[in-house]
Amino acid sequence: MTVPVIKLENLTKNFGALRAVDNIDLEVLEGEVIGLVGPNGAGKTTTIKMIAKLLRPTSGKILLKNKQGELQDLHWNARNLIEMGFLIDIPAFYDMSANDLLRYFALLRNYPRNKIDERINELLFLFKLTKWKHEKVSKFSKGMKQKLGIAQAIIHDPSFIILDEPQTGLDPNARIEIRQLIRYLQDQGKTIFVASHLLYEISEVCNKIALINRGKIIAFDTIDNLEKTLKRKEIDCEILEPIPPELLGNIIKRLTVALEPYLDKDLDPKVSKIPIKYMPNEQVFKIYYEGSKNVRAEILKILINEFESDFSVVSFTRPRTSQLEGIYSQMIKEDDERFENEKKR
Ligand SMILES: Nc1ncnc2c1ncn2[C@@H]1O[C@H](COP(=O)(O)OP(=O)(O)OP(=O)(O)O)[C@@H](O)[C@H]1O
Ligand SMILES: [Mg+2]
Repeated sequence: MTVPVIKLENLTKNFGALRAVDNIDLEVLEGEVIGLVGPNGAGKTTTIKMIAKLLRPTSGKILLKNKQGELQDLHWNARNLIEMGFLIDIPAFYDMSANDLLRYFALLRNYPRNKIDERINELLFLFKLTKWKHEKVSKFSKGMKQKLGIAQAIIHDPSFIILDEPQTGLDPNARIEIRQLIRYLQDQGKTIFVASHLLYEISEVCNKIALINRGKIIAFDTIDNLEKTLKRKEIDCEILEPIPPELLGNIIKRLTVALEPYLDKDLDPKVSKIPIKYMPNEQVFKIYYEGSKNVRAEILKILINEFESDFSVVSFTRPRTSQLEGIYSQMIKEDDERFENEKKR
């Protein structure tokens, strides 16, 4: 049996009357990259800060693997634990050079003195910051500071890495660079925990998603498995020419009959009242369907073969919002509704 790298047990944090983290249980295995995803104020940073020992839990436990491969309570006994690295806030040592800053953190984390220079050069090269080695951090752009922040987090080559919003506020190129760095660390077998609002980025690098809302983990699984638990499945069928309004009613009616076996039978009325909608601006039929890839193939066949004289299909895709966005919005919404209903009772 594999021992998890970290295990959270009933982890809770109150700030006065506010419960910021509410009985979280979570296990992360070696080599997993976990995305911690949830709305503002959900408790992501608070959870991360407890793991970083910047905050003490109100109750519950954080168990981390020690060098013997056993789980050990982080707050009770910090000796012999595996190394962790954190990017929580970008270190604000702006009057230092990149080199001095990394050296400072290397010493702080007891990295072997005689290897520090080599390690700094290696990381600056990896992060494309070599030219900036002796420049003051105050001259760095936000993206460069963020990369330096990650370099700082991994300077001592930790096996468990925690990144809080590593890509927030960065332009697309800088985001891609950080994504590549996360993948690079992933390839080295590191265990990584990333909190982020950038769902696309998260879905690109994470093996599993922990969805957190109002301090609770409401889902923890691979994106594919999470999607399977969702009822809502939609497909966007883009067509070449706009449908004349006077023909639309009839086409929708015939589509509904032809696709009847595949349409979503208990469509959530809050999502849509009808299983096939036409969006005139985009020239798209939105189809709420039930089932799998095979069903999508059947639907496409019917659209092309039986409606040839009505429209030409240009594209047939799942909506542009990423899979994870759909999962996120639906699960958070359902959780909030449950919460409101319980409050009313
Ligand atoms: N030091 C503190 N004192 C009091 N309340 C706090 C403190 N830190 C966080 N909180 C509250 O705890 C809740 C969770 O905050 P947290 O920063 O963990 O959220 P988050 O999920 O990281 O949000 P974001 O996406 O905005 O970063 C919020 O309601 C926040 O106001
Ligand atoms: Mg936060």
